[in-house]
Amino acid sequence: MRHPVSLRSIALADPDPQHLRERVLADFHASFDRYESLFEVLRGEQAYTVKPIPLRHPLIFYYGHTATFFINKLVLAGVLQQRIDPRLESMFAVGVDEMSWDDLDEAHYDWPTSAEVRAYRDRVRQTVDRVIRELPLASPIAWDSPWWVILMGIEHERIHLETSSVLMRQHRLEFVRPHPDWQPCPDRGEAPRNELLPVAAASFRLGRDREDPGYYGWDNEFGDRAANTAPFQAARHLVSNREFLEFVEAGGYADDSLWSEEGAAWKAFAKARHPSFWLRGDSGWRLRLMCEVVDMPWNWPVETNFHEAQAFCNWKARRDGLPVRLPSEDEWHALRHAAGIGDAPQPSPAPANLELDHWASSCPVDRFAHGDFFDVVGNVWQWLDTPTYPFPGFQVHPIYDDFTTPTFDQRHNLIKGGSWVSCGNQALPVSRYAFRRHFFQHAGFRYVVGERPAAPTGSMYETDALVSQYCEFHWGAEPFGVPNFPRKLAEVAVAAMQGRPMRRALDLGCATGRASFELARHFEQVVGIDFSARFIGVGTQLAEQGRIRYQLPDEGELVSYHERTLREYGLQDVAGRVEFVQGDACNLKPMFTGFDLVLAANLIDRLYSPARFLREVHRRIVPGGLLVITSPYTWLEEHTRREEWVGGFKKDGENFTTLDGLDLMLGEYFERVGEPLQVPFVIRETRRKFQHTISELTIWRLR
Ligand SMILES: [Fe+2]
Repeated sequence: MRHPVSLRSIALADPDPQHLRERVLADFHASFDRYESLFEVLRGEQAYTVKPIPLRHPLIFYYGHTATFFINKLVLAGVLQQRIDPRLESMFAVGVDEMSWDDLDEAHYDWPTSAEVRAYRDRVRQTVDRVIRELPLASPIAWDSPWWVILMGIEHERIHLETSSVLMRQHRLEFVRPHPDWQPCPDRGEAPRNELLPVAAASFRLGRDREDPGYYGWDNEFGDRAANTAPFQAARHLVSNREFLEFVEAGGYADDSLWSEEGAAWKAFAKARHPSFWLRGDSGWRLRLMCEVVDMPWNWPVETNFHEAQAFCNWKARRDGLPVRLPSEDEWHALRHAAGIGDAPQPSPAPANLELDHWASSCPVDRFAHGDFFDVVGNVWQWLDTPTYPFPGFQVHPIYDDFTTPTFDQRHNLIKGGSWVSCGNQALPVSRYAFRRHFFQHAGFRYVVGERPAAPTGSMYETDALVSQYCEFHWGAEPFGVPNFPRKLAEVAVAAMQGRPMRRALDLGCATGRASFELARHFEQVVGIDFSARFIGVGTQLAEQGRIRYQLPDEGELVSYHERTLREYGLQDVAGRVEFVQGDACNLKPMFTGFDLVLAANLIDRLYSPARFLREVHRRIVPGGLLVITSPYTWLEEHTRREEWVGGFKKDGENFTTLDGLDLMLGEYFERVGEPLQVPFVIRETRRKFQHTISELTIWRLR
């Protein structure tokens, strides 16, 4: 196979900026050329417009899409002022994100001809070529440089080089033809016997440094996470077509007990009876490659989606009586460290079926040894047991803020290692691509044996609108210079405690927990209670992991992503003193008693029976202890029936305020300390809309 130019990731630092510029220029053209060469395998105009699979756009879209991506991102980055063809660029902007297997894209598009798209690509090529020649360049290229956006366009095209090659493999055979640039491996034979080998326990760090990336990377590769893996066993080879045949012949596809609920649903929908690229011929099994069908190469890796890989593991586990499963992300890295594979791009030609260095297909599973194992990288991607998630310290890239965030939903599993067509970033062991579990890629799997490690938790973005709003209210910015409300309340409460012991505090209606943590700077123990388990979940996650993530509405459907840590507020060391419990302030369990302070912030006008709460709260507090109440007194029937309101109505013909009601209901046990305080707070609704409220704070001492 011809492979004129390497498509490896280029080092971002180069002592000679002119040399770096030439490398980027060469890489841009090489990837653009390679992508166009892929489309030469299509036969006839219909091959561009008939959808290979109903879930995705036809290939004409992908032909134009990678060029449009350059223009869209360079316009967004302010590098280009003008579009090239707004009509085509609107059409080619957004792919179909395959969210569900029955989520058909029925939109009608009036697609241009392939010749029109080819002409459009030529214009984009000239434009990007000029940008690369003229844009000022400083070495190294940094995450916030416009050059990062050019590399993003190159790497994006390499991703579509791979995903389009899969679509061509799923296309009707009449629409493709063999091509000298895309020749499959000629070596086919019997598979080696697979066996299990030990992998020692390991400790290492995952995540790349945004300040010193070395090579281009996508946002989800950055951050810092400590990984520790227990000893496990891993299969020497990827699972071959031969090894997988045993599962097929044992009736694995007919036995729902081997499949997850999601996997069984996919299998029923797809009527799957065997791997997607297998064809049953008169003389036995055959395999669909990108441009042809061949007799089954039994010693090549099987290609499956996640569900099939998982069902195979379940079948093998049952048959062999061993905890057979797919590896976790951490275990995959432990394996590649054990195999001596580092972070850098592979030498050329790669000692692996990677980077298009060898063939336009898989090859035998015993061709490329890596330490004691084979195909630790390359040949086909390897499905992992780990749904993708952001590393601690994750940030979206401003020019492509929805590249990975939509995959942080527990529905996209990681694939690692790269395939024969994976170039550039995809071929780096530090890359982190994830797909829906029913999705087909040039992907197979390796099984491991060992107890299942705990999944990384608490790494998802909170998307519930109210919970996110309160995350920002408690942990976010201070709009209009209004001090953080829960922190302010804690300061006032602590100041009022003067001279009293500060052993235990109760934060009732704690929401996302900021006041609880702030009180813990001074109190030995703080209990935060809220009616909402979702709110409690945020506080608990902060206490356990020191970090939360949430998504905020910016405008219309646009959102922004936020991460907050206890450390940035100097609260990491008090987390051990805070405990969060779900509970009802009107019906608290008797165990919640003996507090030196009870804070009830913005609570009473949200209770269904504030009177009951106010008449009983003295039981929670030690003699001489304090009750701090804040409320904007916004009584609403949706929260509190009219007859339960504490005040805010005419009584005996006169105004009866909530403060009057508090004096009446609390007076029996408490005396009010000092004058009421007016404490403002601001809640962000969108980037441009805020609620500005004044809460009244009163302090009550238990007699
Ligand atoms: Fe794309």
